[in-house]
Amino acid sequence: MQTSFTAELLASHPSVQPQLSDDLARVESIIRARLESDVSLIATIGEYIVAAGGKRVRPLLLLLCANALGVRGDVKHELAATVEFIHTATLLHDDVVDESDLRRGRQTANALFGNAASVLVGDFLYSRAFQMMVSCGSLRALEVLADATNVIARGEVLQLMNTRDLDLQVEEYLRVVRFKTAKLFEASSRLGAVLASAAPAVEEACATYGRSVGTAFQLIDDLLDYSGDPADIGKHVGDDLREGKLTLPLLAALQRGSAEDRGFIRAAIEHGEAPLDEVMAILRRTGALDATREAARAEAQTACDALDALPGSPYREALLNFAVRLVDRSA
Ligand code: IPE
Ligand code: IPE
Ligand code: MG
Ligand code: MG
Repeated sequence: MQTSFTAELLASHPSVQPQLSDDLARVESIIRARLESDVSLIATIGEYIVAAGGKRVRPLLLLLCANALGVRGDVKHELAATVEFIHTATLLHDDVVDESDLRRGRQTANALFGNAASVLVGDFLYSRAFQMMVSCGSLRALEVLADATNVIARGEVLQLMNTRDLDLQVEEYLRVVRFKTAKLFEASSRLGAVLASAAPAVEEACATYGRSVGTAFQLIDDLLDYSGDPADIGKHVGDDLREGKLTLPLLAALQRGSAEDRGFIRAAIEHGEAPLDEVMAILRRTGALDATREAARAEAQTACDALDALPGSPYREALLNFAVRLVDRSA
């Protein structure tokens, strides 16, 4: 299961590709095995969302960090699958909350099976993830993932509280991003170091790397929500605006635009019926889209700097390249 972003990254690192492809294939088979349930709707919905693809970037980061630090054995595959389960659970819940009907190029589970089924299967995936992490036998790994899951939930609730708040500060937006998205990236790369029993400074470097790429990843997701191609991102564009989510492209336009621009954006957010084309024109004209990408680039640079603490290896090179590529990703 490698969509183009992940597959292209691996293809540009021929010395790690065979190992990583094998690692990811193992993760995939664990995902399938752990989805099995005697309750048919769980298996149906689980299979539906997992088979639709997904970039698998969080498992990839865990594996790259683990391999960069010489971790062997199967526990890394189980933990990588666990992280993907947590991610998938958040997506099932997020699409209900955001009333989204398209993901991974298909109808969302809530659109097809209903909100109740999506929420409940999301709960199944969360609880299965906890069973999986316990089976790994590392109290530290359990602590990292329990904390991450709690922080993600806080981030989603914070974001809900911030809906349609036109006075939202960029710092508060970034706090939500760190909580709802970057925390799981941080946990994923930290776990690579935990499995290696790495020195505290190396573990913190991995965590900083994950937190920074995770932040950059969400900034680009927020950019693509305006400027992406639905065929590439597998989601609608303009959803954040419709939902009244003030993300960095819009916040930057509010800061940079004229009084007239601000009035237009205010009306779009307050009335919920936003003419996307006109908002897009403001985002382009004020340089808000470019500013968002540059903010992501700065985060990616922080991530790259953190990698200095890791020993040189082709895996470290791939981590570096991951941070560089994600800033210009289109999918
Ligand atoms: C989507 O994550 C949610 C965000 C944090 C932006 P991904 O873009 O990793 O989703 P999939 O797994 O590839 O579909
Ligand atoms: C990411 O936020 C959601 C989670 C981390 C749970 P978004 O709401 O922007 O993600 P998409 O765009 O629906 O994938
Ligand atoms: Mg969403
Ligand atoms: Mg989004």
